[in-house]
Amino acid sequence: MASKLQTQGLNLYYGKFRALLDVNLSIQPRMITAIIGPSGCGKSTLLRCFNRMNDLVKGVRVAGRVLLDGADILGPATNLSLLRRRVGMVFQRPNPFPLSIIDNVTYGLRVHGETRRSRLLPVVESSLQATGLWDELKDRLNASALDLSPEQQQRLCLSRVVAVQPEVLLMDEPCSALDPIATERVEDLMRELAGQYTIVIVTHNMQQAARVASQTAFMLLGELLEFGPTLNVFENPKDKRTEDYVSGRYG
Ligand SMILES: Nc1ncnc2c1ncn2[C@@H]1O[C@H](COP(=O)(O)OP(=O)(O)OP(=O)(O)O)[C@@H](O)[C@H]1O
Ligand SMILES: [Mg+2]
Repeated sequence: MASKLQTQGLNLYYGKFRALLDVNLSIQPRMITAIIGPSGCGKSTLLRCFNRMNDLVKGVRVAGRVLLDGADILGPATNLSLLRRRVGMVFQRPNPFPLSIIDNVTYGLRVHGETRRSRLLPVVESSLQATGLWDELKDRLNASALDLSPEQQQRLCLSRVVAVQPEVLLMDEPCSALDPIATERVEDLMRELAGQYTIVIVTHNMQQAARVASQTAFMLLGELLEFGPTLNVFENPKDKRTEDYVSGRYG
């Protein structure tokens, strides 16, 4: 199967500090891939390469290639707004805008110039349906997004991303602000969305990776040490350091 995302000899420097070392990774379409590893190993840095969010950090230099559907996205010709529409991102803390529920969901479309209610309303319904929020929220679409529970806010942020019909969903520790029950609901949702989207999730929670991801990448000090089917990474790792990490010996 052709990779949806691929890195080839990817190196990233914050000033003189080399945060990614020759990362070669292939991510399959319509599956969940988890990136795990101890704090500071470069998980978020790698994730942000996939929609060039690191461009926003001063002093960053990137070498190598990052391919989306086989095309390098690192060059100057890349339209960043289009790229970020194709490769959406959800963050650690739910970050709804201080707007109504409906304005949150339609935000991306409105930024791209769509103002017709007849076009926006069906998207509101389908995007809230996609994250299981429609029945809960359909009668109060004009309420403030900030009044929702953290889990609803995280789902709303996902709806906001889904509304612009991305191909890839990047999630950086999307459940770390949620309690176990809300986490389970978001994990169920991820499994449902995986039928349609390519999902890459960074998590500190190894059980979470084991529960949701078909492929897992283990990083250490900027290197991709291990990558493969999740079960193999957890139960039959090739590298001793992976084994130490997944068995809880450090991290
Ligand atoms: N803006 C920045 N400027 C300089 N160094 C940075 C910057 N962002 C990250 N780093 C460094 O790059 C390395 C990788 O950071 P990154 O945030 O990608 O790790 P992480 O695996 O996501 O960690 P965590 O699990 O704590 O979120 C760390 O050593 C970090 O200190
Ligand atoms: Mg991080």
